[in-house]
Amino acid sequence: MIRLVIAAIGLLAAGISLAEIETQAIALNCRNCHAADSSEIPTLTNLSAEQINRMLLDYKSDKLPATLMPRIAKGYSDEELKAVADYLGRR
Ligand code: HEC
Repeated sequence: MIRLVIAAIGLLAAGISLAEIETQAIALNCRNCHAADSSEIPTLTNLSAEQINRMLLDYKSDKLPATLMPRIAKGYSDEELKAVADYLGRR
C-alpha cells in the first residue's frame, strides 16, 4: 500500500494526473482477464477504442447480454469506461 502511494506521488510529480492513474489501475484489472494468451476470454488487442467503448456501454445497459462484463461495466461511470476504452483501444 505504502509503495502504491509513493508510486502515485512519483507519477503525480512526473505530471501524470490522478485520473490517468485511476484509468491505468482500471486497465490493469481488465488485463487480468483479457490477457493475450487466454483461451477462454477474448483479447482486446484488435479492438479500437470506439469498439471497446460501445461494447462496454452496451454491457452496462444490458443491450449486450453476457456473463461477467455487465457486472463489471455497471461498476464504472460512463466517463471511466470511455477513459479506459481510449487507454486500451488499438492505436
Ligand atoms: C473477471 C474477468 C474479466 C474482467 C476483469 C474484465 N473482463 Fe471483459 N470480458 C470477460 C469475459 C468472460 C468476456 C466475454 C463476455 C462475458 O461473458 O461477459 C469479456 C468481454 C469483453 C469485451 C468484448 C470483447 C469481444 O471481442 O467480444 C470487451 C470489449 C471487454 N470485455 C472489455 C473489458 C474491459 C475494458 C475491462 C476492464 C474495465 C474488462 N473487460 C474486464 C471477462 C472480464
